[in-house]
Amino acid sequence: MTNVTDKGRVLIFDTTLRDGEQSPGATMTHDEKLEIAELLDDMGVDIIEAGFPIASEGDFKAVSEIAERSKNSVICGLARANYKDIDRCAEAVRSAARPRIHTFIGTSPLHRAIPNLSMDEMADKIHETVTHARNLVDNVQWSPMDATRTEWDYLCRVIEIAIKAGATTINIPDTVGYTAPAESADLIKRLIETVPGADEVIFATHCHNDLGMATANSLAAVAGGARQIECTINGLGERAGNTALEEVVMALKVRSDIMPWVTGIDTSKIMHISRRVATVSGFNVQFNKAIVGKNAFAHESGIHQDGMLKNKETFEIMRPEDVGLAGTSLPLGKHSGRAALRDKLTTLGFEVGDNQLKDLFVRFKELADRKKEVFDDDIVALMRVGEDAE
Ligand code: KIV
Ligand code: ZN
Repeated sequence: MTNVTDKGRVLIFDTTLRDGEQSPGATMTHDEKLEIAELLDDMGVDIIEAGFPIASEGDFKAVSEIAERSKNSVICGLARANYKDIDRCAEAVRSAARPRIHTFIGTSPLHRAIPNLSMDEMADKIHETVTHARNLVDNVQWSPMDATRTEWDYLCRVIEIAIKAGATTINIPDTVGYTAPAESADLIKRLIETVPGADEVIFATHCHNDLGMATANSLAAVAGGARQIECTINGLGERAGNTALEEVVMALKVRSDIMPWVTGIDTSKIMHISRRVATVSGFNVQFNKAIVGKNAFAHESGIHQDGMLKNKETFEIMRPEDVGLAGTSLPLGKHSGRAALRDKLTTLGFEVGDNQLKDLFVRFKELADRKKEVFDDDIVALMRVGEDAE
């Protein structure tokens, strides 16, 4: 596990099994959770937030069993700011080689109004609950929920209290996806510069995607000094979801020229876990989703296909193999050109002369105008019709 002095390393905290599973309808079975946790552990996720142990007996069992089985990752459970939640969480993560308790409370004016606590009363509660958690485990994460809408002075004050009480990671949630990238970087930077003791802990960023800025906000937070990104596979999560793990990890890998921070993720495992999470959560991945969408490495237009056949770098900034895909796909459709048709015919074992290709291309375009996508079987059928006619 990387420590706070390794400034070039960004920790990946995956919360697919907690925040991700909170998406309405994304509930997973016990065995499915164990399977996803094993895949996360295996791909190099630093911290797995395995669930919210007080939420249900099922969540408690899942977190406990994931804690027992995990090989490399820190196993974390979520707890609200009360002793009952924290004790239950500690019990669930106890058997992990490296357990973490993540405790939180809403600190913005809107959230403070719900338990109807004054600023001072909430500050006392934070001190007590973080101290209690730290007496149970060495690794405590504390989050001021809705941090990005919390008053600056109060935010600094409560973070200082949490650090003094023993929190080792301070997470700054953009709970409602309200922040913009420049603010995200600036907030983390100023907190690290201002709060006493900030250089002794890791600052984390936890972004929601309500305005489609979660990935940009997370990367900006890293530029501001955060060294833990909280994210989920496929961006699963409440409302519009959380930061997508595959996006931040691949962005850091592909643009290491301007973002010199590394993760410990084996990116070749991304596609498999993305598909498994889609299947078990029942949340299909949109076709044009960055990195893991069906079309992320597919090129249909003639110009693009021709370019790809000559030099893959013309239209691809990363190799499909780097995310665990066998290769680029050049689906045939009405925008495809002759070069892609010839390439497909060769792959299917047909060698055709220029005249035959010309004739086939006319019939292929007629077919493509009628169908969204022309499949291998359609091409074989076109060839057969052509052969029968000769
Ligand atoms: O979005 C949020 O604020 C959370 C907290 C529990 C960290 O998920
Ligand atoms: Zn969240």
